[in-house]
Amino acid sequence: MSRSSPCTHSNLLLLVIFAGLTLINAEKKVYIVYFGDGPDDKQAAAQTHQDVLSKCDIVDTEESIVHSYTKSFNAFAAKLSEDEAQKISEMEGVVSVFPNRHHKLHTTRSWDFIGLTQTARRQLKQESNIIVGVLDSGITPQSESFADDGFGPPPAKWKGSCGPFANFSGCNNKLIGAKYFKLDGKPSPEDILSPVDVEGHGTHTASIAAGNIVQNANLFGLKKGTARGAVPSARVAMYKVCWVTGPTADCSDMDVLAGFEAAIADGVDVISISSSDDKLNYAENSIAIGSFHAMKKGILTIASGGNEGPDESSILNNAPWILTVGASGIDRSFTNKVVLGNGKTFLGSGLSAFDPKQKNYPLVSGADIPKTKADKEYSSFCVEGSLDPTKVKGKLVYCKQAIGTPRVEFVVKGLGGIGAIAESNDFPHNTQIFTAPGTMINDTVGQAIDGYIHSTKTPSGVIQRTEEVKIPAPFVASFSSRGPNPVSQHILKPDVVAPGVDILASYTPLRSLTGLKGDTQFSKFTIVSGTSMACPHVSGIAAYVKSFHPDWSPAAIKSAITTTAKPMSKRVNNDGEFAYGAGLVDPLRALSPGLVYDMNETSYIQFLCHEGLSGKSIGTIVGSKSVNCSSLLPGLGNDALNYPTMQLSLKGKNETTVGVFWRTVTNVGPAQSVYNATIEAPQGVEITVTPTTLVFSPTVQAQRFKVVVKAKPMASTQMVSGSLAWRSPRHIVRSPIVIYTMRMKETA
Ligand SMILES: *[C@@H]1O[C@H](CO)[C@@H](O)[C@H](O)[C@H]1NC(C)=O
Ligand SMILES: *[C@@H]1O[C@H](CO)[C@@H](O)[C@H](O)[C@H]1NC(C)=O
Ligand SMILES: *[C@@H]1O[C@H](CO)[C@@H](O)[C@H](O)[C@H]1NC(C)=O
Ligand SMILES: *[C@@H]1O[C@H](CO)[C@@H](O)[C@H](O)[C@H]1NC(C)=O
Ligand SMILES: *[C@@H]1O[C@H](CO)[C@@H](O)[C@H](O)[C@H]1NC(C)=O
Ligand SMILES: *[C@@H]1O[C@H](CO)[C@@H](O)[C@H](O)[C@H]1NC(C)=O
Repeated sequence: MSRSSPCTHSNLLLLVIFAGLTLINAEKKVYIVYFGDGPDDKQAAAQTHQDVLSKCDIVDTEESIVHSYTKSFNAFAAKLSEDEAQKISEMEGVVSVFPNRHHKLHTTRSWDFIGLTQTARRQLKQESNIIVGVLDSGITPQSESFADDGFGPPPAKWKGSCGPFANFSGCNNKLIGAKYFKLDGKPSPEDILSPVDVEGHGTHTASIAAGNIVQNANLFGLKKGTARGAVPSARVAMYKVCWVTGPTADCSDMDVLAGFEAAIADGVDVISISSSDDKLNYAENSIAIGSFHAMKKGILTIASGGNEGPDESSILNNAPWILTVGASGIDRSFTNKVVLGNGKTFLGSGLSAFDPKQKNYPLVSGADIPKTKADKEYSSFCVEGSLDPTKVKGKLVYCKQAIGTPRVEFVVKGLGGIGAIAESNDFPHNTQIFTAPGTMINDTVGQAIDGYIHSTKTPSGVIQRTEEVKIPAPFVASFSSRGPNPVSQHILKPDVVAPGVDILASYTPLRSLTGLKGDTQFSKFTIVSGTSMACPHVSGIAAYVKSFHPDWSPAAIKSAITTTAKPMSKRVNNDGEFAYGAGLVDPLRALSPGLVYDMNETSYIQFLCHEGLSGKSIGTIVGSKSVNCSSLLPGLGNDALNYPTMQLSLKGKNETTVGVFWRTVTNVGPAQSVYNATIEAPQGVEITVTPTTLVFSPTVQAQRFKVVVKAKPMASTQMVSGSLAWRSPRHIVRSPIVIYTMRMKETA
């Protein structure tokens, strides 16, 4: 083992952790070795992949290479030690090497709420030529949302395929393609090596974007209505890249990349991905890389911003060529009344579809009925095995819900109880669907209920069936990830928000509603919340816009959706644009934006140069060996990307910061148009635009302008915002302008 090859000695490396306790061999992990753009000669490329490993003395190259990518980009995934990966990254022609990691996956009335009614105008013929590619956990082919009644054959441009696959009834003229990618090993026993959706997530998101119109969709009679996607006549192609692992599903970089590659080669029009890669560096981020290649082929990628809110800078999928979506609530919600024997009523949350058979049930606190004295601490949390079954039977039980323990209503029901009032201050962002009568309350209400229980000899209560109620809207969901953009200070993220709270859409028959063991509730439709659900709303809108404007670039479609979004209330959403970006999407206005902020590959490469990425890192993203930034920099500074929103990060605590934003708008409205600028500037900020009028004529369809933002240091607030709106008699083209101070990390 002493050969002095550049790659072999690492196998001898041993890591000693806590001396003598654990010895870990330098284990081989899967890395992605990336060469750049798709090769002309696919066979030669595959051979190169083996040659690279041979050069490193990795003898069993076929065993090591897990997957070769030779379509849209040239790359391979292989099992390597850290040292081998390092050595390969220095080899000629290799653009980057990064580890394969796994990432989390992060309707109905929602369309009417944002103005896309069932009678909205459509280009039906064009719409049926649109293919929405969804990278997710698979799909349920037998769902009514994907039936093909009335559909003709797939559009001529379609190059994709569909099985046959195990446990998959097959595609049709609506669901025209399905593929799966599980490149780094076998799926868990709960999943199936097939595009079938065992999780429910992919069926849900795909039906939100492009599902058929299904009458009488509902969950337990709640949220009754018509389920439909934005573009019911469009086609769906599913790329299963996310797999069930334990209670959720996750998606690995290598599968995500393979999904992008296939979707691009198959000829989809938009790509929807409700997951995020948490690697901040674009050059190591599979979604940033995959979506850049998609953009080059004219395909817009729409991605969810993550469910890590309301923490600041929690937003993900930050690349400027991605349309990043946050989640907003609509004007319907659920209430869940708990009525106590003394007549007092409290409101809880969650979805409990059980009609009470009696007006009242005896009510007891879990803390008072431990199985043995020693169980008392656990019984207040109604932990399995801690309650005295004889004292649960026929009763409603009040328990604290601990994270990571079985749901309390489930434990109570298992012992013959009626249901549970679960106290928690850590509400899940999903409306909890209860498996027995249940409701979730906070500790303030919990104390009141506990007080009542101990104030009478015969405490009693009842949990009423959940009802749907009207609430003020829109608002940004608290779970929706927030800016400021942790990667690029000049790019506002999220771009927009769309409905993502309690969205009713199709579901899989292969999983119970809660996915919990013993839950026997199944439904064709279910309600889920998350930026995962907001994302396909916008994917559907992008497809809708494309059906009217098939020749628009991805950036033009994104600009149309962004500049026509409805600004939201700063009072209701105190994180302002960091919560909602340009605002709530408005599909009908997005069809006719008037002007668009267009961008192309060169614009993004220039942007990356200004961001200070190395030529090699940029090469990784764009798919070439290296990029010569000095030949590309136009000398306009890093605010020069023609982004449809503007963001200025303040420098010192002391001096005034001046931001200069050069922008170009392209007229997509009537050829002869005049637009005047309207500026709204927050206190302490001066915003000017030159010129203040833009005149378009049949010969001049693009106009450049300059926005100068002068901002004094901000004492108390972190962020303020204003806007620029170009107005013609028929259009308003609005861009928020955000000014903020980077919060310094506290140092001890
Ligand atoms: C998948 O198909 C196999 C073989 O037909 C069958 O045994 C299995 O139960 C199926 N799995 C599911 C979840 O339907
Ligand atoms: C607890 O819930 C009640 C009822 O929904 C609500 O009125 C109250 O504001 C909540 N308290 C806290 C501290 O969140
Ligand atoms: C990108 O857009 C710029 C400005 O409109 C144009 O000069 C350039 O040729 C375009 N580049 C490509 C690759 O289309
Ligand atoms: C990069 O571009 C600059 C300016 O065009 C040129 O002077 C320089 O030689 C180029 N560098 C390389 C490595 O090609
Ligand atoms: C801040 O401003 C004051 C007054 O203009 C000046 O005296 C001081 O040097 C400045 N401090 C810094 C750190 O720039
Ligand atoms: C734009 O401004 C010009 C000059 O102030 C004015 O004559 C014109 O009516 C304005 N147009 C619109 C659409 O507001």
